Amino acid sequence: MTDGSPAGTIVAGPKPYSPGLEGVVAAETALSLVDGERGVLLYRGYRIGDLVDHGTYPAVANLLWTGDWDAGHHLPTALVPEAVLVALRGLPTTAKPMDALRTAISVWGATQTLEWPPTAEQARALTAFSPSALAAFARLRRGEDPIEPDLGLDLVPGFLYQLNGERADPATARVLDAYFIVGAEHGLNASTFAARVITSTRSDIASAVTGAIGAMKGPLHGGAPAEVVEQLHQVGSPEHAEQWVRETLDRGERLMGFGHRVYRAYDPRAAALRRVAESMEHKPDWLELAIAVEDVALRVLAERHPERALKTNVEYYAAPVLMGVGLTPDLFAATFALARNAGWTAHVLEQSAANRLIRPDARYIGPSERDLPE
Ligand SMILES: CC(C)(COP(=O)(O)OP(=O)(O)OC[C@H]1O[C@@H](n2cnc3c(N)ncnc32)[C@H](O)[C@@H]1OP(=O)(O)O)[C@@H](O)C(=O)NCCC(=O)NCCS
Repeated sequence: MTDGSPAGTIVAGPKPYSPGLEGVVAAETALSLVDGERGVLLYRGYRIGDLVDHGTYPAVANLLWTGDWDAGHHLPTALVPEAVLVALRGLPTTAKPMDALRTAISVWGATQTLEWPPTAEQARALTAFSPSALAAFARLRRGEDPIEPDLGLDLVPGFLYQLNGERADPATARVLDAYFIVGAEHGLNASTFAARVITSTRSDIASAVTGAIGAMKGPLHGGAPAEVVEQLHQVGSPEHAEQWVRETLDRGERLMGFGHRVYRAYDPRAAALRRVAESMEHKPDWLELAIAVEDVALRVLAERHPERALKTNVEYYAAPVLMGVGLTPDLFAATFALARNAGWTAHVLEQSAANRLIRPDARYIGPSERDLPE
């Protein structure tokens, strides 16, 4: 049944029904503001570009958890408990890295005493151990031993060290750190909402993040930087960019990494990533190619869709950055989850601080009251 309510809103008796909860305000948050019209993303009021230019992922995570800005905040990766390593060793080598990470966090939760209410210390511990767990799984599945954390390194270079067995050069670590910063938080998306729902039952932080990873794993959530990689493969080299872009659009296909449901302006996360990537002295080939293709794509999309602003989104630069630092595409989604740990756990803290059980109503559409058949 519909009435004069906004499109998509169905009124069941006195209560509005919005499929997908679209347009429903279900939480108050001081963590981030996403302004799609102006192309602005703020974490606790600070512009994402400034955070990328002047901060690190640990500083940004700490800002989200505590509200305090400490540019020098240090957060190394943490040891993986033996029970988690046993679980990771038990997985098939073909397991998806997202499944391995979700399993690792669930097992980690079983090894901890995670009292209610959740604390910034719990958030820090979960965020610090997760990269070690993902790196351990990536090594185990190729028959290599996990590497213990180097406590002198911050979280992102520490993750690369545990993944590759050698310290990354600072420019490479910096560009991945920028990716972690732009991926840290983005409002009440599906996985963050899942984390808040679980927290609202007074469950623990590991359960909330385990559930959030389950939500993020769905193909409708994270988008597809792996598809951007596939398209860049097809382009091959910058000289082919113009022809490839025109032919792809002529076939009615979409250019991956362009357009956004919320952002009409250039995605501020893509802008920040591009800036850091461009400042690298030795850009990996992937970045060189992506930058060349983007310029052509923006020009041709503007020509073909003068009525609609189709600009670069964050997935576009995520792809060459992740490839450039040596990650295989099947690790992209789980690496995004590592970055989002800061936001998920910050929402867990925020939800628990002013908790109300999240329990919406459902509109009953089954048969009316009746007798069982004789
Ligand atoms: C992200 C996305 C789903 C947003 O979609 P949306 O806001 O619903 O936009 P629409 O699907 O209504 O598209 C509007 C018009 O722009 C075109 N368009 C949108 N994104 C496009 C793209 N990436 N390449 C080419 N054309 C595109 C559509 O074909 C459509 O044109 P038409 O009106 O002539 O049919 C869409 O831009 C897209 O598919 N992008 C590519 C995938 C991607 O990068 N995903 C990651 C997002 S973070």
